[in-house]
Amino acid sequence: MPSPYSWPAISKIAYGGDYSPEQWPREVWREDVALMREAGVNMVSVGIFSWALIETAEGVFDFSWLDELLDLLHENGIAADLGTPTASPPAWFFAKYPEARVITRDGVTMGFGARGMASPSSPAYREAIVRYASRLAERYASHPAVVMWHVHNEYGVPVGEDYSPQSVRAWREWLKNRYSTLDGLNAAWGTAFWGQHYTDWEHVGAPAAAPSVVNPAQRLDFARFTDHQLRECFTLERDAIRAHGDQPITTNFMANQSWTTDLWAWAELVDIVSDDHYLWAADPEGEIGLAIAADLTRSVGRNKPWILMEHSTSAVNWQPRNIAKRPGEMARNSLAHVGRGADAVLFFQWRASRSGAEKFHSAMLPHAGTSSRVWKEVVQLGGALEKIDAIRGSRVQADVAILWDFESFWAQDLEWRPSEDITHAERIRAFYERLWRDNITIDFALPGHDLSAYKLVIAPAQYLLTAADAANLTRFVENGGTLLVSFFSAIVDENDAVHPGGYGAPLKDALGVTVDEFLPLREGEKSTVTWHDGSSLRADAWHEDLSLTTAQSVATYVDGPGALGGARPAITRNTYGAGTGWYLSTRLDADSLATVMADVYRDAGVVASDLPSGLEVITRHGDDARYTVAINHRDDNAQLPASGIELLTGETIAETLTVLPGGVAVVRSPHTAEGGGR
Ligand code: GLA
Repeated sequence: MPSPYSWPAISKIAYGGDYSPEQWPREVWREDVALMREAGVNMVSVGIFSWALIETAEGVFDFSWLDELLDLLHENGIAADLGTPTASPPAWFFAKYPEARVITRDGVTMGFGARGMASPSSPAYREAIVRYASRLAERYASHPAVVMWHVHNEYGVPVGEDYSPQSVRAWREWLKNRYSTLDGLNAAWGTAFWGQHYTDWEHVGAPAAAPSVVNPAQRLDFARFTDHQLRECFTLERDAIRAHGDQPITTNFMANQSWTTDLWAWAELVDIVSDDHYLWAADPEGEIGLAIAADLTRSVGRNKPWILMEHSTSAVNWQPRNIAKRPGEMARNSLAHVGRGADAVLFFQWRASRSGAEKFHSAMLPHAGTSSRVWKEVVQLGGALEKIDAIRGSRVQADVAILWDFESFWAQDLEWRPSEDITHAERIRAFYERLWRDNITIDFALPGHDLSAYKLVIAPAQYLLTAADAANLTRFVENGGTLLVSFFSAIVDENDAVHPGGYGAPLKDALGVTVDEFLPLREGEKSTVTWHDGSSLRADAWHEDLSLTTAQSVATYVDGPGALGGARPAITRNTYGAGTGWYLSTRLDADSLATVMADVYRDAGVVASDLPSGLEVITRHGDDARYTVAINHRDDNAQLPASGIELLTGETIAETLTVLPGGVAVVRSPHTAEGGGR
């Protein structure tokens, strides 16, 4: 059993990063700890890629350098987040167990010389990771520097699916467990189609590359199986560590950057949620993607404070164009994570590597050393985090939830969908972005969660929706909630089979509408939708032919395929029980979506802020104060109505705070008798 949620024994906002002293001589270690102290670093993650330098041959461990390092860190008041290096097994391992190498969907056997775990189903790999984790935990469980365990690194990348023979064997066992009988499997996968009926378990293979599109239900199950195997590997290590040490155990997620692992399930396994986030440089408003990742991380962690395990001080090295952060951007990014619930700000990595694939990646201590701009900003950020330390432990509260369901994404991402213009990531970003610009705080949720705390629930891309989850959403509306569902939702069940009754049928009570036919547009084609006040909304990519039962049409197609020769409903609103169900059957541009959302907010009783655009504001609520975190993405001053103490300057704010261009501020406002906790 995992231990209850716990925070590492650090009495400050954790500040630091991945540290790889094994890449450096001893004199550099001493310089490192001195500079860490100068920057206010209080925790570093070590040992994440050190397998080959610790277990030098099978079962032969040499911990001497790690002993020395942990002692040095402790003497300098720096805590260690101690990693298991199981994302990168040594050369000797693959030489001895070549069958543990991963085989891709196209049949390519992965070689050595990069990083990436062995097959998660390999018995030899599983034995090796348990041995390593046990020996590591046994040796360091009572070392005073060790405050947390960091299992593995970013499960799911670069290795997720594995098509090796041992994976196929494990997959058959997983399927037997899920379906008990071949009849059950044949029914779930719809194998009557294209003559795929199975008569023997031994004939069931992994969904490897085939002459045409492989059975989508089989592929969806393989995604589930892959996630399950990775979680088993994590659990093996976690339990091996727990037998010796009681420090919290985590593994670093990649919220909004990788979709291989179902983070809702993973968050149940860890003691504390941690996340890695990197800006996507091609996105001119990367701060919105950052906010999605941070809100998702907090949400999967059931709203408890979480650890920003990695981000970058400046450019990364793995994108097509690696754009350096502008002055102040690192602090804005860090504070945005803190505003959204992080109580730790860590980076990849402490000191830039001279050799290897990541030598052009930024670091806290760049190749240019302590005279660099980046280093100066790192020292400033350490000071800033000390000043806002009171924010630790406070919580973010949201009235709006956006549905984020990995199983649905896995299913939607398969081949032969009605239009390649439609993706879950694009729709979630569109709706999230509208609410971000309105400074409305968002949680993410699963459709089966208890949604009763929310006024508004948005389903931007719920392609797969089980009957039970549809019933939950329907109850949410019946009990007074406002539900907004975007097109191509409630289409299939858990086996990627179309719902009886047609598209949208499971939500027909809540929405008062079902979909007769998808009507995708041609590439680049635009269309006009008439809003109920006579104004025009702009749409593209997707129309639908709707059948209304109890819903009212509030916007109509006047051209494009949706018009079907006359005005036809495009957006509907339905009253059901004490609540309201909205349905959007087309893809609106950002301004048109804003028009619709204004009505939806009104139904839900949600209020958009009237702050200047580009001033991002998030509030954390503590026991005796609330903390308003403001980030000015504009290039001029922005005024924020606030009262309290601005923690970074110590200034008392009576009514209005001026946030400087590109600046950040954190205002602590003690609760008043009237103000209460919210
Ligand atoms: C990931 C990894 C790190 C490093 C960074 C570079 O997040 O966990 O080891 O490779 O990317 O951005």
